[in-house]
Amino acid sequence: MQIIRRVDRLRSAVSLLRRQGGEVALVPTMGALHAGHMQLMREAKQRADHVVASIFVNPMQFGANEDLDAYPRQEEADAAMLSEAGVAILWAPDVDQVYPAGFATNVSVAGVSDGLCGAARPGHFDGVATIVAKLFNQVQPDMALFGEKDYQQLAVIRTMARDLNFGLDIIGVPTVRDADGLALSSRNAYLTSEQRAAAAMLPRAMQAGIAVIEAGGPVGEATRGIEQALLAAGFASVDYVTLADAATLQPMEIADRPARLLVAARIGSTRLIDNMPVNAR
Ligand code: PAJ
Repeated sequence: MQIIRRVDRLRSAVSLLRRQGGEVALVPTMGALHAGHMQLMREAKQRADHVVASIFVNPMQFGANEDLDAYPRQEEADAAMLSEAGVAILWAPDVDQVYPAGFATNVSVAGVSDGLCGAARPGHFDGVATIVAKLFNQVQPDMALFGEKDYQQLAVIRTMARDLNFGLDIIGVPTVRDADGLALSSRNAYLTSEQRAAAAMLPRAMQAGIAVIEAGGPVGEATRGIEQALLAAGFASVDYVTLADAATLQPMEIADRPARLLVAARIGSTRLIDNMPVNAR
């Protein structure tokens, strides 16, 4: 596996892969890789002949009071896992390669970026859309894979790729979970063992709420039940518990079409998110 840090080198390495024939898949990450990320690599290997993984902790998508400096960095361990998984290129650009002095462009996807995490984290999805647009242009892959774990991010990227004619396939991969149901996340590393135990209430409460909705119970009652269960389990606060249209992410009061239940809540100062499908009645 080649580790590349400069755009000109990346371009020549990708064209060399292309000359070997077959399709190129891109898997963007911010590193601190876990089994969720590795599932994306496996899926990419199955669908494409060559896999490019990127690791870049993107300052533009972190808010002023967020965890940019504390974000876990472990490139050596990550590179070993990627190499083992058969990744051809690790694209780990230096910050000045990505944001040269005078960088002035912003990619903003209206509508789908606005609610949910977009409301709690102003500018976050502009940062995501901008870096992902840049990664698409740098690597020029045939397909790119993203986790459903970050469901709103996936919707933002799908919209951007369609609107700006990126001409590549966006593939969503189901969330990988720990044995107790908690979605794997690099941020789980911030949890104390007590918080980690309490965090298992997040998927459990969501499943209970979904059972209520799918049985025809009132959506408001289900979402309030989830919020109460989280606070009772020791979560510090709940940012949102929302039933939304699976494609547009517009909030729904009645589950009359394919929907997604999305939750963001804080345990200590760590913000956890999760989402699950809800079947229409
Ligand atoms: P990061 O949080 O490192 O996640 C990289 C990719 O892994 C994302 O597509 C995310 O949805 C996926 N992922 C994370 N946890 C997962 C899990 N438990 N199961 C399945 N997939 C999972 O998301 C980002 O980085 C950044 O915003 C990025 C897209 C790289 C842009 O900077």
